[in-house]
Amino acid sequence: MRVGIVGYGNMGGAFAKSLANSVGKENITIYEISEQKRKEAIEDGFAVAKDLYFLAQSSDVVLLAVKPKDVRSVLLELKESLKGKILLSVAAGLELSFYEEVLGKDQKIVRLMPNINLLVGKGTIAVVHNGKLEEEEFDEVLKILSCCGSLYEIPESLFDSFTALAGSGPAFVFQFIDALALAGVKEGFSYEEALRIASDTLAGSAELIRTLGGNPNDWTTKVTSPGGTTIEGLAYLERKGFKGMVMRCVEKTSEKAKRLKG
Ligand SMILES: NC(=O)c1ccc[n+]([C@@H]2O[C@H](COP(=O)([O-])OP(=O)(O)OC[C@H]3O[C@@H](n4cnc5c(N)ncnc54)[C@H](OP(=O)(O)O)[C@@H]3O)[C@@H](O)[C@H]2O)c1
Repeated sequence: MRVGIVGYGNMGGAFAKSLANSVGKENITIYEISEQKRKEAIEDGFAVAKDLYFLAQSSDVVLLAVKPKDVRSVLLELKESLKGKILLSVAAGLELSFYEEVLGKDQKIVRLMPNINLLVGKGTIAVVHNGKLEEEEFDEVLKILSCCGSLYEIPESLFDSFTALAGSGPAFVFQFIDALALAGVKEGFSYEEALRIASDTLAGSAELIRTLGGNPNDWTTKVTSPGGTTIEGLAYLERKGFKGMVMRCVEKTSEKAKRLKG
């Protein structure tokens, strides 16, 4: 499958590098308006198209990775050459109906919502399509995207909630890691060492749940001996309403995503 990517910014660049592992660099072409970013794409080993028409001609799938405000003008330019091809888009907040309105209802469209962890090939990515792709085509899209991280096929009505949970989620996790690292500094570690310890603890705990399964509360019980040290910290978190605070944080983020759209 040949992939054309419009925009070589944070997301376009990260997708290109991850997709290179599934389709091969030689099957990826970039189109980018910034001279600097075009140079970066070439230095990273990708072919760069001179215009959008050429990009579409040399691709089976076109991935849009420009800011939402630039999407309409790119689509209008691409419209004719996209016929029969699959359009993927990562633009936040733009629904499938928007693309259908610009490109027509027969256009094959896949909407994606990735997060920043894509930069290390560990993105958490929501996927939905408009029902115009053949089953084998959609399977092929999922296959090439699997190199970018974990994929979640969800209804479009849950995209704003997914954006809050997984799109903004890394920011909340980064703040938690920073808090742990600062706590480590208070205990006498250097910030760098405490940050490594905090990141390893978080990555290891997530890996444990992913690998062995089970409810986080069961695992909490396993590290909490009666009258021991861990329960002291847990009791404090409970008193301060830690879980309720995190739940409200995601709720507020999701509400904002819905408000921006409406
Ligand atoms: N960043 C995230 O964490 C994240 C997460 C989920 C979804 N998204 C979505 O991903 C999309 C891209 O975000 P980003 O953070 O990667 O943005 P970005 O870093 O600004 O990248 C977009 C790139 O596209 C270029 N561009 C603009 N108009 C173009 C055109 N007509 N043709 C070709 N290239 C064009 C921009 O060039 P100039 O800079 O010169 O304008 C820029 O280099 C957005 O729609 C966003 O909603 C981002």
